[in-house]
Amino acid sequence: MGTIADLAQKIERLQGDLAARLSEASDATDIDGLKVEFLGRKGSITLLFKEIGQIDPSERGEAGKRLNELKRHATEAIEQKTEGASDAELKRRLSEERVDPSLPGVYHSYGHLHPLTKVQREIEFIFMRMGFDVATGPEIETEHYNFDALNIPVEHPARADWDTFYIDDERLLRPHTSPVQIRVMEQTEPPVRIICPGRCYRRDTQDDTHSPVFHQIELLWVEEGLSLAHLKYVLEVFTQEFFGEGYDMRFSGDYFPFTEPSVQVHIKAPDADDWLEIMGAGMVDPAVLTAVGYDAERYTGFAFGLGIERMAMLRYGIKDIRAFFTNDLRLIKQF
Ligand code: DAH
Repeated sequence: MGTIADLAQKIERLQGDLAARLSEASDATDIDGLKVEFLGRKGSITLLFKEIGQIDPSERGEAGKRLNELKRHATEAIEQKTEGASDAELKRRLSEERVDPSLPGVYHSYGHLHPLTKVQREIEFIFMRMGFDVATGPEIETEHYNFDALNIPVEHPARADWDTFYIDDERLLRPHTSPVQIRVMEQTEPPVRIICPGRCYRRDTQDDTHSPVFHQIELLWVEEGLSLAHLKYVLEVFTQEFFGEGYDMRFSGDYFPFTEPSVQVHIKAPDADDWLEIMGAGMVDPAVLTAVGYDAERYTGFAFGLGIERMAMLRYGIKDIRAFFTNDLRLIKQF
């Protein structure tokens, strides 16, 4: 039969033991371990409760009280230590994991539009302000839209002017944006006022002014009473808005199967000696209007086609068209 004195000794030993072990514990894992060791289901304090049964019944009440006190003390001590440990952990992190605002940040560049896209949009906006709509068409075209409907029948020598990539006997990669004119006119009654930007393809060997992939913008205005004078006015407004004040503009004769007369448009910078050719244009050939079902006696129209790369090269002083397609960021970033 145990006595209360024996129990008191054990309690004292356990308390001392726990205090010593707690003071050695350095982190939350250690402390959790001690909690299990002392207060767990098979912990030393828990087991001590089992000894109550061996104590003289008259002293059992006192024994229980002391054991409960031990348990309470132990629980409190462990809790305190846990709090202390997390405070210490917080302090350690605060001092070690300090943010250093003097370190360089992480930079993300946002990127921007490609110079060709910028120029394309700029040209689109100029004509949209004049009342033109933007229309697009497929890059894979049929001979009908690309040639026949534009008054260039099979065996017409002018077909050779467009060095065309053929996919099969009927389909091809469009070498110009002019087929979009036909597609739009087939679907619309006059007046038609459109510009058609888009990618084009030609079997050209690359050099500083040729690229097998390039971009054009087509313009078409069909309405009653239009003349070459209207074309000239529209182009004067365009030249002034895109290139600036003081440019001269002139027409020279040219030939395109879909326009009659056909012209080449040249501009000259205020302080320059040379004229620069910027596009082909003309009055839409009545045969083209008739082919889409328009009354060519009633309606006239004009059209032009310009190269976006050429415009961008003139605008930015770029001498080699390949610069647009090689994606050299040193160049692209300048725009
Ligand atoms: N389609 C012609 C080309 O690629 C450019 C052109 C010239 C378009 C005169 C036109 C035009 O609409 O009227 O070379």
